[in-house]
Amino acid sequence: MDERIITAIEQPVDDWQYSLRPRRLNEYIGQDKAKQNLSVFVKAAITRREALDHVLLYGPPGLGKTTLAAIIANELGVNFRQTSGPAIERAGDLAAILTNLQDRDVLFIDEIHRLSRQVEEILYSAMEDFALDIIIGKGPRARSIRVSIAPFTLIGATTKAGALSPPLRDRFGVISRLEYYSTAALVEIITRAAQLLKIPIEANGAEEIARRSRGTPRIANRLLKRVRDFAQVDGLTTITDAIADRALIALEVDRAGLDHTDRRMLDAMIKKFHGGPVGLETIAASISETRETIEDIYEPYLLQLGFIMRTPRGRVVTEAGYTHMGVAYPKANDVPTLFDFEDM
Ligand SMILES: Nc1ncnc2c1ncn2[C@@H]1O[C@H](COP(=O)(O)OP(=O)(O)O)[C@@H](O)[C@H]1O
Ligand SMILES: [Mg+2]
Repeated sequence: MDERIITAIEQPVDDWQYSLRPRRLNEYIGQDKAKQNLSVFVKAAITRREALDHVLLYGPPGLGKTTLAAIIANELGVNFRQTSGPAIERAGDLAAILTNLQDRDVLFIDEIHRLSRQVEEILYSAMEDFALDIIIGKGPRARSIRVSIAPFTLIGATTKAGALSPPLRDRFGVISRLEYYSTAALVEIITRAAQLLKIPIEANGAEEIARRSRGTPRIANRLLKRVRDFAQVDGLTTITDAIADRALIALEVDRAGLDHTDRRMLDAMIKKFHGGPVGLETIAASISETRETIEDIYEPYLLQLGFIMRTPRGRVVTEAGYTHMGVAYPKANDVPTLFDFEDM
């Protein structure tokens, strides 16, 4: 899966993207709702000379959670400390990080849904009272002492807000969901990246890449780089829509931004399961992927495009999905009724 050109998971080769990361809120394109709210909260916190309330950012990979967290710290004028759920193995590791924070610093915990239970519990009093409860001694002589830490802002990022335990979720004052980007916003992101990387690109070329980037800036930036390779080999000095189209076809990224695996999934749902309803486990088994990968990576974008739908009885390929795959929609089939979609 890591070989997919359209993977939204950060790859080591993406390091070059760090230079593309916007540093200020006004350079951060799109996500207007999250941006507007955050800019108000940041200004208010600065005026009150207080730490910003804890922020939870959630949404699919590559939409700009880490970037936004770093921008918030930058706008607040404080240090940005970065770690991740799986990286914090013991409660003591987190305690060490917390006691080293300076007044109003931002601590960013990526994949916060993957914190272990013991580590998570340290966070509760840290977030609420800026204090750590440390147990000293063992057995009957054990006692708990409270150590205070600097007021700080925790920014958590997760691809699945639903996987967060309620006590942790409740301690975030601000919860922001990042959305897939519009084509127009991606055109802006690609144009900006092309400028920074000194790649001449036509408006139509940027638009062609934008439409096929699954609403995701990380993918847009990566496709831009790959398309540039094709243009260079062809001796072109500027990226046009024609070369973008040719490059993306060669990379097996179709007109809607779907790759080989997305298409394989739709194909299996249509041919093996008559378009559904079919359970996630069954889909996963039929294309040899894990349920998690499908749920986190493939499904969100197919849902966003309206190519599949969730029903209580499983996933269903929609008419738009059939049309995209070039298969006639079986109208007479067991099409789910409105009732099936209630409570979704
Ligand atoms: N709003 C944005 N405007 C411009 N570029 C962005 C934006 N959001 C993300 N990017 C680009 O996409 C890349 C991936 O963003 P990142 O913050 O790492 O995503 P996430 O943490 O959600 O997986 C960044 O390197 C950055 O260059
Ligand atoms: Mg990230």
